[in-house]
Amino acid sequence: VELELSLEKIEKGGHPHFMIKEIMEQPEVLANAMRGRILDDGSIHLGGIKPLLPRIAKASRIIICACGTSLHAGMVAEYLIESMCRVPVEVEYASEFRYRTPIIKEDDVVIAISQSGETADTLAAVKLAKEAGALCLGFVNVVGSSIARQTDAGVYLHVGPEIGVASTKAFTGQVVVLSMFALALAAERGTLSKEELASRGLALRDSTKLIAGALANADKAYEMAKSFRFAHSFLYLGRGFNYPVALEGALKLKEISYIHAEGYAAAEMKHGPIALIDAFMPVVIMAPKTDPTYDKIKANMEEVAARDGCLIVVTDEGNDEFDSRAEHVLKVPESPEWIAPLVYSIPLQLLSYYIAAFRKCPIDQPRNLAKSVTVE
Ligand code: G6P
Repeated sequence: VELELSLEKIEKGGHPHFMIKEIMEQPEVLANAMRGRILDDGSIHLGGIKPLLPRIAKASRIIICACGTSLHAGMVAEYLIESMCRVPVEVEYASEFRYRTPIIKEDDVVIAISQSGETADTLAAVKLAKEAGALCLGFVNVVGSSIARQTDAGVYLHVGPEIGVASTKAFTGQVVVLSMFALALAAERGTLSKEELASRGLALRDSTKLIAGALANADKAYEMAKSFRFAHSFLYLGRGFNYPVALEGALKLKEISYIHAEGYAAAEMKHGPIALIDAFMPVVIMAPKTDPTYDKIKANMEEVAARDGCLIVVTDEGNDEFDSRAEHVLKVPESPEWIAPLVYSIPLQLLSYYIAAFRKCPIDQPRNLAKSVTVE
């Protein structure tokens, strides 16, 4: 038993939980996930799908199926693929997709995203897609898993084993791999210029530095967690590329701290959640300056402030606009709009981790949750 315990201690690399180890190692593991796949000229090479790119480029639609955190990565991919490749994308919970007699055509491409590669509903969606004659791709972390084996081709995340039940590095790994996929597809479809492709490829490779910069501000998230550990409910708001990040931030918090949290597209707030706002409910709002709806996000913030809401603003370093207006500001390095999900998810991961730690929750094995859900 002692030997086992010390082995676990070594595996955690000096951290108290696997989750914080997995959060902190993201710059390194994401660099690994991109190694050999983004070359020095910014070009993308994804061996597993390369021969299929001409067929994927002709798809009239891409359908993404996943569950939980992986679904949120799929939603980021919808923004990435539609903006860069101009192909319609649908993102759907695998559990809903499989039972609603979906219309799948032979020229559709179905993408299954899964950390474990064993989620029952996602695997069922893969089978359905294959029966319909669509090309089915898997974006999976666990090598040799069921989804990896049953899809026609795919791309492994290569972020190493994820032990913490709440997914962190697998999420950013999925976003990184899906970003590479979108760039490869844009190259094949000719929807981005050569220069644009090269500069985006290199920007993606460099995103690990921005993630490291976001992690360097962990102290601030720790301090904030101390103030908010007794809150009963949180609201997370984001727009565009950061809308799925808001959903993921809320999911992380409820998974490990057992605090109720809801993620919302910021503009939808006025269609419901605004009724909940009072001085006791923290509202986390993502406001990257590079977002084309930045001014609208500010307006959403004013709506919260006008109702005495407790604002936690996440914005770019160098943007001091909220320092005096919001009670709490978390800063991350500035990034291009499409890279923001990778950077903005970091403070949200940290915030939920530290809140759960203050509340003495069993972070790596939260109650009622499993790392992989292999039953319906
Ligand atoms: C479970 C896990 C989540 C995960 C989801 C999908 O609910 O607790 O962290 O996001 O399953 O798992 P997958 O392995 O398919 O990504």
